[in-house]
Amino acid sequence: MQTDYRFPRLHIVDHPLVQHKLSLMRAKDTSTRDFRELLQEIALLMGYELTRDFPISYEPVETPLTTFSAPVMKGKKAVIVPVLRAGLGMTDALLMLMPSARVGHIGLYRDENKQPVEYLVRLPDVVDRTFIVVDPMLATGNSAAHAVDVLKKRGVEGENIRFMALVAAPEGVAHLQECHPDLEIFVAALDDHLDENAYIVPGLGDAGDRIFGTK
Ligand code: URA
Repeated sequence: MQTDYRFPRLHIVDHPLVQHKLSLMRAKDTSTRDFRELLQEIALLMGYELTRDFPISYEPVETPLTTFSAPVMKGKKAVIVPVLRAGLGMTDALLMLMPSARVGHIGLYRDENKQPVEYLVRLPDVVDRTFIVVDPMLATGNSAAHAVDVLKKRGVEGENIRFMALVAAPEGVAHLQECHPDLEIFVAALDDHLDENAYIVPGLGDAGDRIFGTK
């Protein structure tokens, strides 16, 4: 896992498989079907890294030969929270890793000033849970910061929230860390900059449109 001296809580998943698949996703002629599949594959690999330090406890397990103290994940239950709509593209892969996870939804759109406007929030109860907020593109950081705000206003501690994106702009990471210094952020790539329309450069275009085949 790579780090960046500017962002102490940013984890860049620099695994060769992730980087190769991301390069395929960036290509403008990659089909909707391939884009979607690659996003799921990357989400699976990133989910593996994001959960690396989840706590383990030990329980007796009876094998055909003996009983022994076996490691099991018995910590806080996970909640996956896609930011609609692009976050949906990473959700199924995380559910494959954590089939009993709950799924919350936060629906935001960006107004003409690139500010997030909330149109839907549906979350499970927040007690004793770890929240994984997912949105493929961490661009200005406004939507990400707002989504984390929504969770914190419901009483979720920052230490129980992780943010996962595919591609981030330095401007977005800076803003998110400024608003939520206690948040761990996982990305596959930290790109160069945002353009005047708040698109990440080099980026991959509009993730939602490319996942769902819309314009
Ligand atoms: N949202 C996207 O889908 N792409 C970007 O580059 C920025 C925000």
